[in-house]
Amino acid sequence: MSRIRIAPSLLSADFAAMGEELISMERAGADLLHCDVMDGVFVPNITFGIKMVADIRKRTSLPLDCHLMIVEPWKYVEAFAKAGAAYITVHYEACGDRLGEVLQAIRGCGVKAGAVVNPDTPVSVLQNVLPLCDMVLLMSVFPGFGGQKYIGSVTAKIREMKDMLRAAGRDIPIEIDGGITPDNVAEVKAAGAGGIVAGSAVFGAADRRAAVAALRERTK
Ligand code: DX5
Ligand code: ZN
Repeated sequence: MSRIRIAPSLLSADFAAMGEELISMERAGADLLHCDVMDGVFVPNITFGIKMVADIRKRTSLPLDCHLMIVEPWKYVEAFAKAGAAYITVHYEACGDRLGEVLQAIRGCGVKAGAVVNPDTPVSVLQNVLPLCDMVLLMSVFPGFGGQKYIGSVTAKIREMKDMLRAAGRDIPIEIDGGITPDNVAEVKAAGAGGIVAGSAVFGAADRRAAVAALRERTK
């Protein structure tokens, strides 16, 4: 089986010590860094925005996976691209019929585009935009906060997404976000995930390198 990509979520980092947190994630063996951008409207929490992403970009060579949990994300795609995002992922729930257009705009900025769905949104809503996606992100918790429990019904959605991608001839990664731990990562990988986001499981560990290694070990 191919190696799973691990994206620690900076939501669980100490924001006041971000520079050190980035170094800690490089040492821990992260593949990319997941930046949770929240506006307090699309989700009931507020994190950080464009300047933070630009400043993070200056302090790490790891690719930045920017998950936009904001309303009207199309207004900020170019700004996040200029800030140095490697991936920008936008929610179906925030874009609706405009999702395809927004994914195209992301690609137009030279950034990889990802579409995200919440746990209660069927993956079928992404059918028409698969040719415009460089990855798909399936939420396995309701977005807004780290440290929530994995919603078990998402495992079946991963399989369904994998089948949809196969049928569409699209060989792109499925990333899973929320509640991933060493106890459920094997199930998620076996269902077809190519990448996982992990916040509390990595940042909350006494030994972060061991935490990343444990996630990798369980998916071999
Ligand atoms: C939730 C965020 C997630 C979250 C994951 O809204 O999108 O990226 O930080 O954190 P854990 O791994 O703690 O569930
Ligand atoms: Zn996220």
